[in-house]
Order: sequence, then C-alpha cells, then structure tokens
Amino acid sequence: MKKFMLSPSILDADFSRLDSAIKLLDTAKVDFIHLDIMDGHFVPNISFGPKIIKPLRALTKIPFDTHLMISAPEKYLDGFIDAGSDYITVHYEASKDMLGLMKSIKARGVKFGISIKPGTPVETLYDLLPELDLVLIMSVEPGFGGQKFMIAMLEKVKKLRALKDKNNYSYIIEIDGGINKETLPSAIEAGADAVVVGSAIFGAKDPAAEIEALRACVK
Ligand code: DX5
Ligand code: ZN
Repeated sequence: MKKFMLSPSILDADFSRLDSAIKLLDTAKVDFIHLDIMDGHFVPNISFGPKIIKPLRALTKIPFDTHLMISAPEKYLDGFIDAGSDYITVHYEASKDMLGLMKSIKARGVKFGISIKPGTPVETLYDLLPELDLVLIMSVEPGFGGQKFMIAMLEKVKKLRALKDKNNYSYIIEIDGGINKETLPSAIEAGADAVVVGSAIFGAKDPAAEIEALRACVK
C-alpha cells in the first residue's frame, strides 16, 4: 500500500459543533487538519478566521494546515500564526511578494506553502521550489467544497513530483478539491504526498469510517 498523508478540511463540518469535528480527526490520527480561510474577496465565499482557530488549537496536537484564500495575506499572517497554524499556505495569485511572505512566515517558525489556482501554470513556481515546505495544487476553483475534481491538474502534480525527486526538494505535494475514494488513487499515483478531503468526509454518514475507507482505497 502506498503511503500518503491525509489533511481533512473542516469546511463542510457542522460549524455549531467544530469541537466534535476536531476530536473526531484527533481520534482518527489524521496527519494534518486543513483550515480553509476565505475572505469574500479573493474567493466568492467567507469562512472563518483566527478567532475560530484559536480555541480549536487547544483540542489537538495535529498540525494545522492553514490555506489562506485571501487578498493581502501579509496583513493577516500574525493572526493566523498566533492562533496556532503550523503550515501557512498563501495563494500565488494573491500577492506579488511571495519572498516577503515567505520571510515573515518562516521567521516565526511556521512552515510556508504556496497554492495555485487551476488556471495558474505550475512552472510559475519553479524558481521558488527549493524554498517551499509545501505546494498546494488546487483541483477545483477555490471557494467552495463539494466541487468536481479537475483531472488535468494531475499533470502539475507529476511535474512537481519529478522535480522533487530529481533535486531532493523537501516540499510536500498536496492536492485540494474534489478528492474522494474514486479520485484519491489517481492523485497518489501522480505523486501527491498529501490530499485534502472535505465533503467526502464530513458529508458522509460516518466520517470516521470514511477516513478509514479513504486510507484503504490506495493499493
Ligand atoms: C476549496 C477548498 C478545499 C475544499 C475541499 O476552496 O480549498 O479545501 O473545501 O473540499 P472538497 O473535498 O469537498 O472539494
Ligand atoms: Zn483548501
């Protein structure tokens, strides 16, 4: 069985019981907890901010994988770091100063990732790859859970995998959007190290059983 890391997104969990969602993921010993932050500007949806993250931090030691789908991320980094993010991923399309963001994030001892939307070529990131802790390939347009997986995005994953292996880069290759038992095996086959799964877990009748099924679907 090929090993991969699971980063469930709580975006489609019951927001009146986020504590239960975190405890469920803690018990299931997932690798990361993916926090989807949306500002209603960079993406056409609003989710939650540091004030929600902070109390969740006390409930688990599992690393928080914070995905900032926001404009002007530099203004909000400290809030997300203080709330307990272990990884912060910003969007390439959201700022002209990736190096500045990287400096600010790494200076605080937090891992740095960059995400690209489906329309952004992966080659855009090539110069930055040696510095990255994580690359997040969007396999849907960011903004909403429950969308259909864009299979063409696997080409980006393959390119990142080849470069990582060739140059011994340390970034985690993560893919986000439309991952379920049907699409997950192809993402791992293409070379992803980690997958984000939202609606497939929290939309399931038994989320804990679904996590096990996702783990078992890759042979
Ligand atoms: C989309 C988010 C994703 C998404 C995952 O903007 O970044 O993390 O909510 O949800 P599913 O797995 O339902 O596509
Ligand atoms: Zn996400």
